[in-house]
Amino acid sequence: MKFPTFDMERMQSVWEHQIRYDLSESGVEALTLEEAARDPRELMRTKLGYAEGVGREATRALVASFHSGSGPEHVMLTTGTSEANFLTLMTLVSAGDEVVVVMPNYMQVHGIATGLGARVREVWLREERGWTIDLDALAAAVNAKTKLICVCTPNNPTAQALTRGEIGRIVEIADRHGAWILADEVYRGAELGSEESASFSGRGERIVVSGGLSKVYGLPGLRIGWLVAPPVEVESALRLKDYTTIAPATLSEQLAEIAPAPAASTPFAWSSRCGASPRCAIAAWPGTPRNCTPCSPWPIW
Ligand SMILES: Cc1ncc(COP(=O)(O)O)c(C=O)c1O
Repeated sequence: MKFPTFDMERMQSVWEHQIRYDLSESGVEALTLEEAARDPRELMRTKLGYAEGVGREATRALVASFHSGSGPEHVMLTTGTSEANFLTLMTLVSAGDEVVVVMPNYMQVHGIATGLGARVREVWLREERGWTIDLDALAAAVNAKTKLICVCTPNNPTAQALTRGEIGRIVEIADRHGAWILADEVYRGAELGSEESASFSGRGERIVVSGGLSKVYGLPGLRIGWLVAPPVEVESALRLKDYTTIAPATLSEQLAEIAPAPAASTPFAWSSRCGASPRCAIAAWPGTPRNCTPCSPWPIW
Protein backbone atom coordinates (compact mmCIF):
# COMPACT_ATOMS: atom_id res chain seq x y z
CA MET A 1 0.00 0.00 0.00
CA LYS A 2 1.70 3.19 -1.18
CA PHE A 3 -0.08 6.51 -1.03
CA PRO A 4 0.80 9.24 -3.52
CA THR A 5 1.80 12.59 -2.01
CA PHE A 6 -1.27 14.78 -1.45
CA ASP A 7 0.38 17.76 -3.16
CA MET A 8 -2.25 20.41 -2.43
CA GLU A 9 -2.48 19.52 1.26
CA ARG A 10 1.32 19.40 1.61
CA MET A 11 1.62 22.85 0.06
CA GLN A 12 -1.24 24.32 2.07
CA SER A 13 -0.22 22.79 5.40
CA VAL A 14 3.24 24.29 5.11
CA TRP A 15 2.44 27.72 3.70
CA GLU A 16 -0.73 28.65 5.54
CA HIS A 17 1.35 29.03 8.68
CA GLN A 18 4.07 31.11 7.05
CA ILE A 19 2.36 33.71 4.89
CA ARG A 20 0.58 36.94 5.80
CA TYR A 21 -2.37 36.77 3.42
CA ASP A 22 -4.01 33.45 2.69
CA LEU A 23 -6.06 33.58 -0.50
CA SER A 24 -6.61 29.82 -0.57
CA GLU A 25 -8.48 29.24 2.69
CA SER A 26 -11.38 26.86 2.14
CA GLY A 27 -13.51 27.65 5.18
CA VAL A 28 -14.79 30.71 6.98
CA GLU A 29 -12.67 32.55 9.55
CA ALA A 30 -12.13 30.24 12.52
CA LEU A 31 -13.86 31.03 15.80
CA THR A 32 -11.77 31.69 18.89
CA LEU A 33 -12.02 29.29 21.82
CA GLU A 34 -13.77 32.04 23.75
CA GLU A 35 -16.43 32.41 21.04
CA ALA A 36 -16.83 28.68 20.71
CA ALA A 37 -16.91 27.77 24.39
CA ARG A 38 -19.41 30.46 25.43
CA ASP A 39 -19.02 29.42 29.08
CA PRO A 40 -15.40 28.26 29.49
CA ARG A 41 -16.19 27.06 33.02
CA GLU A 42 -18.28 24.31 31.51
CA LEU A 43 -15.25 23.17 29.55
CA MET A 44 -13.02 23.27 32.59
CA ARG A 45 -15.14 20.54 34.15
CA THR A 46 -14.49 18.16 31.25
CA LYS A 47 -12.71 15.01 32.33
CA LEU A 48 -9.88 14.40 29.91
CA GLY A 49 -10.25 10.66 29.61
CA TYR A 50 -10.68 8.76 26.35
CA ALA A 51 -13.94 9.58 24.62
CA GLU A 52 -16.22 6.83 23.36
CA GLY A 53 -14.76 5.53 20.07
CA VAL A 54 -17.90 5.89 18.01
CA GLY A 55 -18.75 9.25 19.60
CA ARG A 56 -21.16 10.16 22.36
CA GLU A 57 -24.79 9.23 21.75
CA ALA A 58 -25.83 12.88 22.23
CA THR A 59 -23.33 14.14 19.65
CA ARG A 60 -24.28 11.41 17.20
CA ALA A 61 -27.95 12.22 17.66
CA LEU A 62 -27.17 15.86 16.87
CA VAL A 63 -25.43 14.89 13.64
CA ALA A 64 -28.21 12.44 12.77
CA SER A 65 -30.80 15.16 13.22
CA PHE A 66 -29.63 16.91 10.07
CA HIS A 67 -29.18 13.75 8.01
CA SER A 68 -32.63 12.58 7.04
CA GLY A 69 -33.48 8.95 7.68
CA SER A 70 -30.64 8.61 10.20
CA GLY A 71 -30.41 7.92 13.88
CA PRO A 72 -27.39 7.89 16.21
CA GLU A 73 -26.69 4.28 15.17
CA HIS A 74 -25.89 5.53 11.64
CA VAL A 75 -23.30 8.04 12.82
CA MET A 76 -19.67 7.75 13.80
CA LEU A 77 -17.62 10.74 14.89
CA THR A 78 -14.23 11.00 13.24
CA THR A 79 -11.15 13.15 13.36
CA GLY A 80 -12.24 15.56 10.65
CA THR A 81 -14.00 14.73 7.42
CA SER A 82 -10.61 13.42 6.32
CA GLU A 83 -10.77 10.46 8.66
CA ALA A 84 -14.36 9.75 7.66
CA ASN A 85 -13.28 9.58 4.00
CA PHE A 86 -10.22 7.53 4.85
CA LEU A 87 -12.10 4.95 6.91
CA THR A 88 -14.82 4.68 4.28
CA LEU A 89 -12.36 3.83 1.54
CA MET A 90 -10.40 1.51 3.82
CA THR A 91 -13.62 -0.29 4.69
CA LEU A 92 -15.06 -0.64 1.22
CA VAL A 93 -12.23 -0.72 -1.32
CA SER A 94 -9.70 -3.47 -2.06
CA ALA A 95 -6.87 -3.77 -4.56
CA GLY A 96 -8.24 -4.47 -8.03
CA ASP A 97 -11.58 -2.71 -7.43
CA GLU A 98 -12.59 0.26 -9.52
CA VAL A 99 -13.40 3.59 -7.90
CA VAL A 100 -15.09 6.35 -9.88
CA VAL A 101 -14.13 9.84 -8.73
CA VAL A 102 -16.06 12.88 -9.92
CA MET A 103 -13.45 15.50 -10.78
CA PRO A 104 -12.25 18.14 -10.06
CA ASN A 105 -12.25 17.19 -6.42
CA TYR A 106 -10.39 17.48 -3.17
CA MET A 107 -7.80 14.87 -4.04
CA GLN A 108 -7.90 12.87 -0.81
CA VAL A 109 -10.25 10.13 -2.04
CA HIS A 110 -8.36 9.85 -5.34
CA GLY A 111 -5.07 9.35 -3.50
CA ILE A 112 -6.44 6.83 -1.03
CA ALA A 113 -8.09 4.76 -3.76
CA THR A 114 -4.82 4.77 -5.68
CA GLY A 115 -2.90 3.82 -2.52
CA LEU A 116 -5.26 0.90 -1.93
CA GLY A 117 -4.45 -0.45 -5.38
CA ALA A 118 -7.81 0.38 -6.94
CA ARG A 119 -8.19 1.56 -10.51
CA VAL A 120 -9.49 5.15 -10.44
CA ARG A 121 -11.81 6.26 -13.22
CA GLU A 122 -12.34 10.01 -13.43
CA VAL A 123 -15.58 11.63 -14.55
CA TRP A 124 -15.09 15.35 -15.08
CA LEU A 125 -17.42 18.25 -14.37
CA ARG A 126 -16.85 20.66 -17.27
CA GLU A 127 -16.98 24.41 -17.39
CA GLU A 128 -18.94 24.44 -20.66
CA ARG A 129 -21.75 22.56 -18.83
CA GLY A 130 -21.70 25.08 -15.97
CA TRP A 131 -19.81 22.44 -13.97
CA THR A 132 -22.95 20.26 -13.80
CA ILE A 133 -22.50 16.51 -13.76
CA ASP A 134 -22.64 14.58 -17.04
CA LEU A 135 -24.76 11.63 -15.96
CA ASP A 136 -24.19 9.77 -19.25
CA ALA A 137 -20.44 9.98 -18.70
CA LEU A 138 -20.93 8.72 -15.15
CA ALA A 139 -23.11 5.84 -16.32
CA ALA A 140 -20.45 4.89 -18.88
CA ALA A 141 -17.70 4.86 -16.24
CA VAL A 142 -19.55 2.64 -13.75
CA ASN A 143 -19.48 -1.12 -14.29
CA ALA A 144 -19.61 -4.40 -12.39
CA LYS A 145 -16.10 -3.81 -11.01
CA THR A 146 -17.01 -0.42 -9.55
CA LYS A 147 -16.93 -0.61 -5.78
CA LEU A 148 -17.38 3.05 -4.99
CA ILE A 149 -18.43 6.32 -6.61
CA CYS A 150 -16.96 9.39 -4.88
CA VAL A 151 -18.72 12.72 -5.18
CA CYS A 152 -18.30 15.98 -3.34
CA THR A 153 -21.41 18.16 -3.06
CA PRO A 154 -21.31 21.13 -2.93
CA ASN A 155 -18.23 20.46 -4.98
CA ASN A 156 -14.75 21.57 -4.08
CA PRO A 157 -13.50 23.41 -6.13
CA THR A 158 -16.39 24.41 -8.45
CA ALA A 159 -19.06 25.03 -5.75
CA GLN A 160 -21.55 23.17 -7.95
CA ALA A 161 -24.17 21.39 -5.82
CA LEU A 162 -25.99 18.34 -7.10
CA THR A 163 -29.77 18.66 -7.36
CA ARG A 164 -32.16 16.16 -5.78
CA GLY A 165 -32.84 14.81 -9.29
CA GLU A 166 -29.14 14.34 -10.05
CA ILE A 167 -28.64 12.59 -6.71
CA GLY A 168 -31.50 10.22 -7.57
CA ARG A 169 -29.92 9.41 -10.94
CA ILE A 170 -26.49 8.81 -9.38
CA VAL A 171 -28.05 6.43 -6.86
CA GLU A 172 -29.79 4.59 -9.72
CA ILE A 173 -26.51 4.24 -11.63
CA ALA A 174 -24.72 2.94 -8.53
CA ASP A 175 -27.55 0.53 -7.66
CA ARG A 176 -27.53 -0.93 -11.16
CA HIS A 177 -24.02 -2.28 -10.44
CA GLY A 178 -24.19 -2.74 -6.66
CA ALA A 179 -21.70 0.10 -6.15
CA TRP A 180 -21.40 2.23 -3.02
CA ILE A 181 -21.45 6.03 -2.98
CA LEU A 182 -19.29 8.23 -0.79
CA ALA A 183 -20.75 11.74 -0.72
CA ASP A 184 -18.40 14.27 0.88
CA GLU A 185 -20.82 16.97 2.05
CA VAL A 186 -18.44 18.98 4.20
CA TYR A 187 -19.46 22.17 2.34
CA ARG A 188 -23.16 21.63 2.83
CA GLY A 189 -24.52 24.71 4.55
CA ALA A 190 -22.15 27.09 2.74
CA GLU A 191 -24.83 27.99 0.22
CA LEU A 192 -25.76 31.57 -0.36
CA GLY A 193 -29.37 32.09 0.67
CA SER A 194 -31.57 30.03 2.88
CA GLU A 195 -31.93 26.86 0.82
CA GLU A 196 -29.55 24.11 1.78
CA SER A 197 -28.22 21.90 -1.00
CA ALA A 198 -29.62 18.40 -1.39
CA SER A 199 -28.03 15.54 0.53
CA PHE A 200 -27.42 11.90 -0.26
CA SER A 201 -28.53 10.93 3.23
CA GLY A 202 -31.61 8.75 3.25
CA ARG A 203 -31.43 8.25 -0.53
CA GLY A 204 -30.28 4.63 -0.65
CA GLU A 205 -28.84 1.61 1.11
CA ARG A 206 -25.22 1.79 -0.03
CA ILE A 207 -24.42 5.39 0.80
CA VAL A 208 -21.89 6.93 3.13
CA VAL A 209 -22.13 10.68 3.76
CA SER A 210 -19.11 12.41 5.26
CA GLY A 211 -18.95 15.87 6.75
CA GLY A 212 -17.65 17.88 9.65
CA LEU A 213 -17.23 21.20 11.42
CA SER A 214 -14.20 22.40 9.47
CA LYS A 215 -15.68 24.62 6.79
CA VAL A 216 -19.07 26.20 7.36
CA TYR A 217 -18.85 26.20 11.13
CA GLY A 218 -15.42 27.81 11.39
CA LEU A 219 -14.10 25.08 13.69
CA PRO A 220 -11.40 23.20 11.70
CA GLY A 221 -9.08 23.08 14.69
CA LEU A 222 -11.52 20.90 16.60
CA ARG A 223 -10.94 18.17 14.01
CA ILE A 224 -14.50 16.92 14.41
CA GLY A 225 -16.02 15.10 11.46
CA TRP A 226 -18.46 12.26 10.95
CA LEU A 227 -19.62 9.56 8.67
CA VAL A 228 -23.27 8.63 8.27
CA ALA A 229 -23.76 5.09 7.00
CA PRO A 230 -25.71 1.87 7.55
CA PRO A 231 -24.95 0.53 11.07
CA VAL A 232 -22.98 -2.46 9.72
CA GLU A 233 -20.59 -0.14 7.89
CA VAL A 234 -20.33 2.10 10.93
CA GLU A 235 -19.25 -0.99 12.88
CA SER A 236 -16.65 -1.92 10.22
CA ALA A 237 -15.27 1.61 10.16
CA LEU A 238 -15.09 1.59 13.95
CA ARG A 239 -12.93 -1.53 13.88
CA LEU A 240 -10.49 0.33 11.62
CA LYS A 241 -10.66 3.45 13.74
CA ASP A 242 -9.15 1.41 16.57
CA TYR A 243 -6.01 1.52 14.41
CA THR A 244 -6.14 5.20 13.46
CA THR A 245 -7.32 7.56 16.19
CA ILE A 246 -9.28 5.33 18.63
CA ALA A 247 -11.75 8.05 19.61
CA PRO A 248 -12.62 11.70 19.01
CA ALA A 249 -10.62 14.26 21.02
CA THR A 250 -12.56 14.62 24.27
CA LEU A 251 -12.44 18.42 24.47
CA SER A 252 -13.32 18.77 20.80
CA GLU A 253 -16.38 16.62 21.14
CA GLN A 254 -17.46 18.63 24.16
CA LEU A 255 -17.01 21.84 22.17
CA ALA A 256 -18.84 20.41 19.19
CA GLU A 257 -21.88 20.07 21.38
CA ILE A 258 -21.72 23.43 23.12
CA ALA A 259 -20.01 25.74 20.64
CA PRO A 260 -22.65 26.39 18.04
CA ALA A 261 -25.81 28.15 19.11
CA PRO A 262 -28.84 25.96 18.48
CA ALA A 263 -31.09 27.18 15.70
CA ALA A 264 -34.18 25.86 14.03
CA SER A 265 -32.55 24.67 10.82
CA THR A 266 -29.32 23.17 12.05
CA PRO A 267 -28.00 22.14 15.42
CA PHE A 268 -24.56 23.51 14.70
CA ALA A 269 -25.86 26.77 13.27
CA TRP A 270 -23.60 29.35 14.85
CA SER A 271 -24.26 31.05 11.53
CA SER A 272 -27.68 31.92 12.90
CA ARG A 273 -26.13 34.97 14.58
CA CYS A 274 -26.84 36.86 11.39
CA GLY A 275 -30.43 37.82 10.83
CA ALA A 276 -30.05 38.33 7.08
CA SER A 277 -29.64 34.74 6.05
CA PRO A 278 -29.34 31.99 8.62
CA ARG A 279 -27.17 29.74 6.49
CA CYS A 280 -24.94 32.31 4.79
CA ALA A 281 -21.36 31.71 5.78
CA ILE A 282 -20.11 35.17 4.78
CA ALA A 283 -22.72 37.01 6.78
CA ALA A 284 -21.95 34.75 9.70
CA TRP A 285 -18.27 35.58 9.96
CA PRO A 286 -17.46 36.64 13.46
CA GLY A 287 -17.37 40.41 13.50
CA THR A 288 -19.68 40.83 10.53
CA PRO A 289 -22.39 43.40 11.36
CA ARG A 290 -25.76 41.85 12.07
CA ASN A 291 -27.32 43.85 9.24
CA CYS A 292 -24.84 42.47 6.67
CA THR A 293 -26.57 41.43 3.44
CA PRO A 294 -24.67 38.84 1.47
CA CYS A 295 -23.98 40.19 -2.00
CA SER A 296 -21.76 37.76 -3.83
CA PRO A 297 -21.62 33.99 -4.22
CA TRP A 298 -19.60 32.30 -1.55
CA PRO A 299 -16.48 30.96 -3.19
CA ILE A 300 -15.50 27.42 -2.39
CA TRP A 301 -12.19 26.10 -3.59
C1 LIG B 1 -14.01 18.29 0.06
C2 LIG B 1 -13.19 18.22 1.30
N1 LIG B 1 -13.31 17.13 2.09
C3 LIG B 1 -12.60 17.02 3.22
C4 LIG B 1 -11.72 18.01 3.61
C5 LIG B 1 -10.99 17.83 4.89
O1 LIG B 1 -11.82 18.30 5.93
P1 LIG B 1 -11.50 18.15 7.47
O2 LIG B 1 -10.72 19.35 7.88
O3 LIG B 1 -12.86 18.13 8.12
O4 LIG B 1 -10.75 16.90 7.69
C6 LIG B 1 -11.55 19.14 2.82
C7 LIG B 1 -10.60 20.20 3.20
O5 LIG B 1 -10.35 21.14 2.49
C8 LIG B 1 -12.32 19.25 1.64
O6 LIG B 1 -12.22 20.31 0.85
